[in-house]
Amino acid sequence: MKFPSEPFKIKVVEPIRRTTPVERDRLLRDAGYNLFRIPAESVYVDLLTDSGTSAMSDSQWAGLMLGDESYAGSKNFYHFEETVRSIFGYTHVIPTHQGRMAENLLFSTVLKPGMCVPNNIHFDTTRANIEHQGAEATNAVVKEAYDPADESPFKGNMDLGRLEEIIHRVGRDRIPLVLLTITNNSGGGQPVSMENVRETRALLNRYEIPLFFDACRFAENCFFIKEREPGYADRSILDIARELFRYGDGCTMSAKKDGLVNIGGFLSLNDERWVQDITNMLILVEGFPTYGGLAGRDLEAMARGLREVLDEDYLSFRVGQVRYLGELLDHAGVPILKPIGGHAVYLNAKDFLPHIAQHEFPAQSLAVALYRDFGIRGVEIGTVMFGKKETGTGRVLHPKLEMVRLAIPRRVYTNMQIAYVAESIIDLYRRRERIRGLTMTYEAPVLRHFTARFEELDRTAHIQPVIS
Ligand SMILES: Cc1ncc(COP(=O)(O)O)c(C=O)c1O
Repeated sequence: MKFPSEPFKIKVVEPIRRTTPVERDRLLRDAGYNLFRIPAESVYVDLLTDSGTSAMSDSQWAGLMLGDESYAGSKNFYHFEETVRSIFGYTHVIPTHQGRMAENLLFSTVLKPGMCVPNNIHFDTTRANIEHQGAEATNAVVKEAYDPADESPFKGNMDLGRLEEIIHRVGRDRIPLVLLTITNNSGGGQPVSMENVRETRALLNRYEIPLFFDACRFAENCFFIKEREPGYADRSILDIARELFRYGDGCTMSAKKDGLVNIGGFLSLNDERWVQDITNMLILVEGFPTYGGLAGRDLEAMARGLREVLDEDYLSFRVGQVRYLGELLDHAGVPILKPIGGHAVYLNAKDFLPHIAQHEFPAQSLAVALYRDFGIRGVEIGTVMFGKKETGTGRVLHPKLEMVRLAIPRRVYTNMQIAYVAESIIDLYRRRERIRGLTMTYEAPVLRHFTARFEELDRTAHIQPVIS
């Protein structure tokens, strides 16, 4: 196991507080067993998300003081625009307050009801924004992605046969663009290879369909290409990123991940026809095109973060720290999704808790137990997030994977805290039989995982589940 050494030292600290299991049990009951409803102050190691949780560098903090808060034409916008163009290469750069707004602007412009957007696997906000337009969000990832034990190096790849089938089924005119999510968050943070990007591009050229990237974790994806794909070992991350984006026509970006900022995002693209409508919508719902829902200082921090994230020492520590956690768990026999992804370790809840049926939410039950016993917060990526009622029958369709994602914030936790997480999970695994399933007592019509409420099954034998 390789020990990931930090390429930074700590200059500012934020105290965190330990709570007791009894306190956490009460908090869980008050929160309806939904970890999104737990106050962050009562979490010891918070692995809910790597989104917006990064520690900024001294250079980024210094950049905040250089914020030019002019309504129009802030100098920070030009710095940001130049940075995005130099990495991603697309003509138009549209700042947004976060990734889902970039998705919303794009899809509300290009989609009409009945259309379809294929992707390797859509992230939940991407799917929701597409479905909000009355269109279909279809996944076409390679089949290895659904086998947690398969060690293929690029499990985020698009299945080109499946993609072509979708194009034939739906018709080219009803597919305004195809997306590729790099790395593929909902499939375990798995990368997409350059070869697959190139082949996807070639296929789409035959049908004249544009290719867009969901680029949130582009630098981590490029790091995997450098590590795993023949011909890239001696290329810089910037160079790899430039090649990758050249095969596309645009991207949506949540800079809360590989932008190393706490808020920010953008949409970048070449298409002149789409840009006009997107800009008009931006002004209506976000702000003027040179700030797009952000302050000038946020744009400066984002410009600096986008450069820092390309640093190989940083990336090797970043991916190394995630791998360190994964390997500690794997060596102890804890079932995890393999290979270990770029931003998170995914516990395979089906194998961790084989005694809990999928309709009793094994991954949510595991996340609850991890918080109650150790104050560690992960997130369910399984039936709560992706389970769907079939129209007509009302039958619940369960996703193939049932996982708890332990997303590691960037530059935030020490390796000692990561070792504590591993030790806690190994302990929980040894006592796994006592973990109980849950029943859902409230669900919202969209993105239900954020607000759903549950009861523990043994406490609520009388409660009728709202889904079966
Ligand atoms: C792959 C992917 N796409 C889009 C988003 C949405 O970004 P945001 O949370 O900034 O709206 C996320 C956020 O986690 C994501 O992981």
